[in-house]
Amino acid sequence: MAATNETSFPERNRGWYQDDLTEINGPIRKLLENYSKIPSSEVVKHVNSIRERGFAANPYPCIGLYRFTNLTLLSHPLYNTIIERLNVANATYLDVGCCFGQDLRQLVQDGVPSDRLIGLDVAGALMDLGYDFFLDREALRSCFVVADVFKGAEQGPVWTDLEKRGVDVMHCSAFFHLFTLEDQIFAAKNLAKLIKKDGVIVGRQIGSVKPGDVPAIKDKSLSYRHNVDTFNNMWQKVGEATQTQWKVEGTMDMIGININSPVENEDSRRLLFTVTRIV
Ligand SMILES: C[S@@+](CC[C@H](N)C(=O)[O-])C[C@H]1O[C@@H](n2cnc3c(N)ncnc32)[C@H](O)[C@@H]1O
Repeated sequence: MAATNETSFPERNRGWYQDDLTEINGPIRKLLENYSKIPSSEVVKHVNSIRERGFAANPYPCIGLYRFTNLTLLSHPLYNTIIERLNVANATYLDVGCCFGQDLRQLVQDGVPSDRLIGLDVAGALMDLGYDFFLDREALRSCFVVADVFKGAEQGPVWTDLEKRGVDVMHCSAFFHLFTLEDQIFAAKNLAKLIKKDGVIVGRQIGSVKPGDVPAIKDKSLSYRHNVDTFNNMWQKVGEATQTQWKVEGTMDMIGININSPVENEDSRRLLFTVTRIV
């Protein structure tokens, strides 16, 4: 599996480190003011400081370009259904590649009991920084799991406990698009084993009207961008390999796409998806 971040080449990474924000609007400001109780006048400084510390730990475009300030789950058409689903006892939500855990905190703010929510990321430092971002280290009852999706069950209980518990709703945003198609299939097979029957995987990622490989964020490596058909094909392969069946629904649009950004171009689209385990 190709590494997804590269700290030995800081000049390249600076290409996706935009200037500090001077204003922060929308749902994330509301969340920081209402959930984290950060005074309105402090929000911009707080977000810039977390971005700086996060980028020092992992120089991802989603951090350098402040994409973490977009609450992507909130914009998913199933958001209200997801809330209802998670308000049932024993329901489990898993946010794969959760980074600071911003979408998880929005669910808590919207009334989901926090002990039903789990964040998972290979980078423990980013999840830890999430507590400083949202100022909830003492209050939040969610658990954050440091695990590598590619290692799956070989990591032992950290993963096999998730397999036993089973997941009703998995959020997977800006995750698959980090990898080659072969690696995406490998990762999806591990994730498929965590989902209960009738469970869903929802998310957004960068798609393309010309599906195929593009340069990845690690220098000299590639990642694969899907359209809805290729994403569906991938899940049919995952189903065959795991004796499961999946219904894939998706849309592509220009929301949040900036064709002048270092990681997007005129072929890029937002791919919003729902993958339901039907068998
Ligand atoms: C581009 S960020 C997306 C963060 C967040 N989901 C969002 O939409 O803002 C990708 C995240 O996936 C995590 N990640 C990368 N490879 C991983 C792996 N093999 N296993 C688990 N997490 C991984 C990274 O540490 C990072 O936090």
